[in-house]
Amino acid sequence: MEVTKKKLYSAVQPTNNLTIGNYLGAIKQWIALQDEYDCTFAIANMHAITVRQDPAALRRKTLELLALYIACGVDPEKCTLYLQSHVPCHAELAWVLNTFTYVGEMERMTQFKDKSAKHADNINMGLMDYPVLMAADILLYQADFVPVGIDQRQHLEITRDIAIRFNNIYSPTFTVPEGLYMKVGAKIGDLLDPTKKMSKSAENANGSIFLTDDRDTVIRKFKRAVTDSGNEVRFDPENKPGVSNLLSIYSIFSDKTIAEAEADFAGKGYGDFKLAVGEAVADKLAPIQAEQTRLLADREYLDKVFASGAEKAYHTARKTLSKVYKKIGFYQL
Ligand code: TYM
Repeated sequence: MEVTKKKLYSAVQPTNNLTIGNYLGAIKQWIALQDEYDCTFAIANMHAITVRQDPAALRRKTLELLALYIACGVDPEKCTLYLQSHVPCHAELAWVLNTFTYVGEMERMTQFKDKSAKHADNINMGLMDYPVLMAADILLYQADFVPVGIDQRQHLEITRDIAIRFNNIYSPTFTVPEGLYMKVGAKIGDLLDPTKKMSKSAENANGSIFLTDDRDTVIRKFKRAVTDSGNEVRFDPENKPGVSNLLSIYSIFSDKTIAEAEADFAGKGYGDFKLAVGEAVADKLAPIQAEQTRLLADREYLDKVFASGAEKAYHTARKTLSKVYKKIGFYQL
């Protein structure tokens, strides 16, 4: 008897260069879960334009991100990989969900407030509506689980609220999704200010490790990472945020537990520790970068992945959208 797999959905915006935070908080989880779940992974280019993008760069980053997903180990044979703008149902469902979402709820979103402060000259409606589009993404595919970093938790909560609200007014229509967060890695800190999240768009690029950074850059950035005035490599996020952040990174990149990672550096100084973290990360990034470059040279293959992904995604999304249209009273042919 075939058991239906639970559904998993996630996405990344094709903006700037991805950091090891994006990799550890999201993509690494996807790879671990792709055999067990029915997975759909998108490239969220419609979210990306809520902040002004250069069109040529956005197109290039889109292909780079698809190549990166595959280079990291996301298998297009097992998962549906597609580009958000290739499936019109996202915009269509977002419009409907807008009418079940309150302006006050959107004004309270932390990311909206942060981005409004950062882009004060362009506080557009899309920026405010961002979480509703994200809810549409997730709900279209009836996702049970959404593997993301902690910074997306508030968006997941509002998605659940909107789904429950709609289900209560009509009848069960949407699966109410749950966020999946890594125990270690759900919030990778900036190397220069570990209490802040490592970000693609950080002002100082030395605080972020980009997946495109070469070995020398990776090692140089880790050497400069802030630690503390002590000398003990111990996991204690409250009192030793810098060291704990580096231990988290090291433990995931070298597939060790935090305790094993601590043991590796017992009696060693911060200099040796930081070098070892840098080397562990650089060792893992090199083959991913080589594979991404190889894939980017094969445009035909990437286009094929996008085309078949869009077809599969559309099929699922359209089913949900028709159900919604029926419930709300849209006359359908
Ligand atoms: P984005 O592109 O900002 O980030 C992609 C993923 O990386 C995670 N992340 C981190 N995890 C750990 N530590 C960090 N320092 C760190 N920085 C980023 C994010 O939590 C995210 O999982 N809104 C989403 C994209 C999106 C989406 C969706 C996600 C659009 N539609 C539907 C899930 C489901 C975003 O901006 O991700």
